[in-house]
Amino acid sequence: MANTNTSNSYLIAPSILSADFARLGEEVRNVLAAGADWIHFDVMDNHYVPNLTIGPMVCQAIRPHVQIPIDVHLMVEPVDAIIPMFAKAGANFITFHPEASAHIDRSLSLIREHGCKAGLVLNPATPLSCLEYVMDKLDMILLKSGNPGLCWQKFIASTLGKKQAVRKLIDAHKQAGGQDIWLEVDGGANLSNIAEIVQAGADTVVAGSAVFGAPDADGGYSGIISQLKTKAASI
Ligand code: DX5
Ligand code: ZN
Repeated sequence: MANTNTSNSYLIAPSILSADFARLGEEVRNVLAAGADWIHFDVMDNHYVPNLTIGPMVCQAIRPHVQIPIDVHLMVEPVDAIIPMFAKAGANFITFHPEASAHIDRSLSLIREHGCKAGLVLNPATPLSCLEYVMDKLDMILLKSGNPGLCWQKFIASTLGKKQAVRKLIDAHKQAGGQDIWLEVDGGANLSNIAEIVQAGADTVVAGSAVFGAPDADGGYSGIISQLKTKAASI
């Protein structure tokens, strides 16, 4: 799996944090059928963030229903112990917050050693300096455009400049012979701002409440996912 985004086609990763957990398998199958590209899987530990959500057992349970990548966003501290568990549970991407690991380089290596794509997640106020010495170990940079721990948050527009700055870093890294790196954005994305988000440099957009809060009349999500893709491609 490589990041082959060379055109104006953008990936949509519905966050199941906004799904109906009582019908999780059905919700996941519905977004898949509607054209979701990845499933975004938010893990909260009641420590790094106040909330407590889902872990490797739930990842393992949905894995047989999901033929697309599962993108695990760890909001846990510390991170290393849970990485092998998520790899075993079928995760494809594992990302973590740099301030939640005492040894960022080692945590990134651990993810790759377990056969997953590795990434760092930057909160709205996290500086870009943490990327400097690990660019070659990153498959993805996930930029939060809301603070971690909640869904249904308002998009923080001041993070648009940060997205542009990270896009420049990734492009410069590639030009210098480095690997490609996905640039994913997470928090408050919807139909009214997705064009700005991809214009600023994102290739992948997480959408939780925008997708799961807008089911079609038949309970599916193809309307909202295709509208998000159309708006993104309109730039
Ligand atoms: C928040 C999570 C997000 C969130 C996105 O801590 O990382 O993935 O679920 O939800 P929306 O799109 O509703 O902001
Ligand atoms: Zn997330």
